[in-house]
Amino acid sequence: MSTHALYPGSFDPITSGHLDIFRRSARLFDRLTIAVVHNVEKKGLFSHEERVALIAAEVADLPNVAVTSFTGLLVDFVTENGVGALVKGLRGAADLEGETVYAHWNRHLAGVETVWLPAAPELSFVSSSMVKQVASLGGDVDAFVPAGVAAALKAKFGNTP
Ligand code: PNS
Repeated sequence: MSTHALYPGSFDPITSGHLDIFRRSARLFDRLTIAVVHNVEKKGLFSHEERVALIAAEVADLPNVAVTSFTGLLVDFVTENGVGALVKGLRGAADLEGETVYAHWNRHLAGVETVWLPAAPELSFVSSSMVKQVASLGGDVDAFVPAGVAAALKAKFGNTP
């Protein structure tokens, strides 16, 4: 049986940690869809279209990976798209706590299982929120985001070198 896995998230913006999990997941599953949440009530730094484009540029070389966005309940996307498993990365205990809640809810609502991959240790302290905070104050985040994201952050914060 082929498994279509779904990696949902905010990805505002993706970091190298996300990218590592995308690539490792793409090797584990037949198909991987990365789904950016489109939350109309919560405005992020990047629009959902920008987030999708930043991800798509980084996974263009992976033939079994697609990128899209979704609104509403994640499990509706799961049932409508034949998703067999959810996949997420875990950086540590703080992530485990939140992700356990999500995993139980999603299994309750749609019977879908969640698979967690351990984050790369050297990226375990990297988050979209820290990247945004440091970049907004002019700090260097280039080691922790793909080059396209680094350029997009510089454009957003107007501190292009
Ligand atoms: O990148 P994040 O913040 O860990 O992503 C959280 C996300 C988008 C996966 C989660 O908030 C979500 O699934 N939102 C959609 C609404 C929903 O289905 N909520 C109930 C189950 S978590």
